[in-house]
Amino acid sequence: MAKLNQYNLSMAIALLSSILIVASMVTSEEEFMITIPPEPEPGFYKTIEECIEKMSRECGENIVKAVLEDEDISEQCCVELVRGMGKICHDDLLQFYVSLPQLGFNVTHLNIRGHQVWNICISKTPSKM
Ligand SMILES: *[C@@H]1O[C@H](CO)[C@@H](O)[C@H](O)[C@H]1NC(C)=O
Repeated sequence: MAKLNQYNLSMAIALLSSILIVASMVTSEEEFMITIPPEPEPGFYKTIEECIEKMSRECGENIVKAVLEDEDISEQCCVELVRGMGKICHDDLLQFYVSLPQLGFNVTHLNIRGHQVWNICISKTPSKM
């Protein structure tokens, strides 16, 4: 059997804080009852950890709120998303959030908005810096 919890503590903390940002907008009572499901594929949580580290906390919040609550995204955060994180990380993070059923996300809505946010950010990011 493979070890289930190979990912390290700093990753778990980073994950938890990103989840709590989200959870505080969804429900306050259940935010400490979130369990992390088994990895959908080996190395997925390591990838998530590396993705989270590529973005500032402020922009992480901005993007999550943009996806969940249709908030405007700043140009600076779009640059971090498009140039810093990239499409694969963006999609992986979406996949991670929808894999947490306790957060009660509308998967269809999250996927549509995730796609829209990415496209909005592409159009807001200058082609040369
Ligand atoms: C989920 O989101 C989709 C797309 O925005 C919407 O059509 C659907 O009604 C939503 N479902 C629920 C249960 O809210």
